[in-house]
Amino acid sequence: MQSILITGGAGFIGSHVVRLFVKQYPDCRIVNLDKLTYAGNLENLRDIEDAPNYVFEKGDIVDAEAMFALFEKYQFDGVIHLAAESHVDRSIANPMEFIHTNLVGTVNLLNAARHFWKDISGKRFYHISTDEVYGSLGDEGLFTETTAYDPRSPYSAAKASSDHFVRAWHHTYGLPVVISNCSNNYGPNQFPEKLLPLFINNIINSKPLPVYGKGENVRDWLYVIDHARAIDLIYHKGQIGETYNIGGHNEWKNIDLIKVLCKIMDQKLSREAGTSEKLITYVKDRAGHDMRYAIDASKIQEELGWKPSLQFEEGLSKTIDWYLANKAWMDNVTSGEYQNYYTEQYEKR
Ligand code: NAD
Ligand code: TYD
Repeated sequence: MQSILITGGAGFIGSHVVRLFVKQYPDCRIVNLDKLTYAGNLENLRDIEDAPNYVFEKGDIVDAEAMFALFEKYQFDGVIHLAAESHVDRSIANPMEFIHTNLVGTVNLLNAARHFWKDISGKRFYHISTDEVYGSLGDEGLFTETTAYDPRSPYSAAKASSDHFVRAWHHTYGLPVVISNCSNNYGPNQFPEKLLPLFINNIINSKPLPVYGKGENVRDWLYVIDHARAIDLIYHKGQIGETYNIGGHNEWKNIDLIKVLCKIMDQKLSREAGTSEKLITYVKDRAGHDMRYAIDASKIQEELGWKPSLQFEEGLSKTIDWYLANKAWMDNVTSGEYQNYYTEQYEKR
């Protein structure tokens, strides 16, 4: 039986990747390694936790010895590495955590793979990264796979460093790696610190919607299951040593997106038109706030035949429906540590 290690599988994107692999590859053992930080929640995987080809292991990728022991135990054929600290605002408040997990943790996994993969045939180390490594765009242009790295936040700097280390392990030690850099994801199970779930939750609870700066920053949004489909394709068919950009061809200025969200929320909650928009509150801008991200995804489309399957309107509506139907999930993940952190951050603004 083949064994694949998926790190960060209890998080937002990871849980969708774990589910897809567990269902699609019943003859393959899927090991989900996750530290269960504030962002990791096993509730995200309740529906597949009893599948015979699924195993959960709690662990920290920063713990090199534990990663070697894990490789020894399962003799992995492949790794899909998603575990990371993922929120830019947290990286501004506490950069060291990002250096430990995103950089040191990634190098620990590279070392373990290199040690156990004396024979590299059929092996693959797939590192999941972000378009934020390329920096910030002006009004024109798109990030391609050859755009120079120019990370500007502690989060993107740590992710960019980890991408460099993954490539270094390929060029120096011959480790069979592949990397993808994706734009902003949205969908079910995203922790409500990121824009869309935070604002959906605040609208439900009639709380202010904190728009950073003038709300003119642009992001390229992709439905999370389309990202998971791309990850499946790249894991199985991507060329070793290559990088693939993944994006939604779906650019939105924050304030325009927020206004559309407000309108749909009013309809779905049967509130008077304009109710949610009144919650919009302009707050101090994020430090170093990148203006625009946008991906040219033509390489993955031309070489692997991937393109986004969902229109944004449909994806957004499905996403809102999920959060409305899963209030217990929201209450659970927003209790305790989260509440303290965000009350503090909000009061500072
Ligand atoms: P997330 O924060 O929702 O989940 C991260 C997961 O990693 C959590 O389950 C957490 O418990 C786990 N984790 C954190 N530190 C760990 C450690 N030291 N050891 C083991 N597990 C640990 O993140 P996400 O949004 O699902 O992002 C997943 C990956 O995709 C990240 O590498 C991120 O950089 C990348 N990415 C995210 C987006 C996006 O829009 N969310 C876009 C492009 C790329
Ligand atoms: P976010 O979801 O944090 O993703 P990223 O910073 O990785 O792109 O933020 C998306 C955009 O929304 C970004 O331009 C920052 C902005 N934003 C707000 O205006 N208010 C908020 O409360 C948050 C969380 C984000």
